[in-house]
Amino acid sequence: MEREQQTTPGPGREQALELFLRYNQSESLLKHALAVEGVMRYFARQRQQDEEQWGIVGLLHDLDYEQFPEQHCLKAGEILREEGWPEEMIRAVVSHGWGICSEVEPLSELEQVLYAVDELTGLVATTALVRPSRSVMDLKPKSVKKKWKDRRFAAGVDRSIIERGAAMLGVELGELIADTIMGMREVAEEIGLKGEA
Ligand SMILES: [Fe+2]
Ligand SMILES: [Fe+2]
Repeated sequence: MEREQQTTPGPGREQALELFLRYNQSESLLKHALAVEGVMRYFARQRQQDEEQWGIVGLLHDLDYEQFPEQHCLKAGEILREEGWPEEMIRAVVSHGWGICSEVEPLSELEQVLYAVDELTGLVATTALVRPSRSVMDLKPKSVKKKWKDRRFAAGVDRSIIERGAAMLGVELGELIADTIMGMREVAEEIGLKGEA
């Protein structure tokens, strides 16, 4: 089997978005997908990795969530395989639910970054939305850290997963939060977090 996804012109971003929209109607899921895509692109660029590949994995990671919540991660793997996406990307998508809905452990840099930032984008978005500006553009890591400690705030965001992700990557939580905010700023308009400013 040949696998040269870095150079092979397989399905691209357009096909990924089309596929995502085929399986998802929810506006909030789309915004989450676009937020994670933006953050993955930011990290890929920072780490001199394949931005397109990382971005698409971010965009597609919750592909099956709306229609197959009980089979989350596994179903996404099946769909992506049927659609002919490269194994490396499929593995990355499935690994984001490690310990929850998948037994595939995040091992590659791509997988570990996805694992670390997925839940964090939710905390960043919720923090931005309770501020007067309702924007990520002027959001400081300090504000997110304050909300981090308030476990009743965005209670659905599992802080332990983010901590585990940061540990895997060997980065400080503060740095992870700062970079996640930077990534979300790049797609602020699309994810409704540009605010009034
Ligand atoms: Fe997920
Ligand atoms: Fe997600």
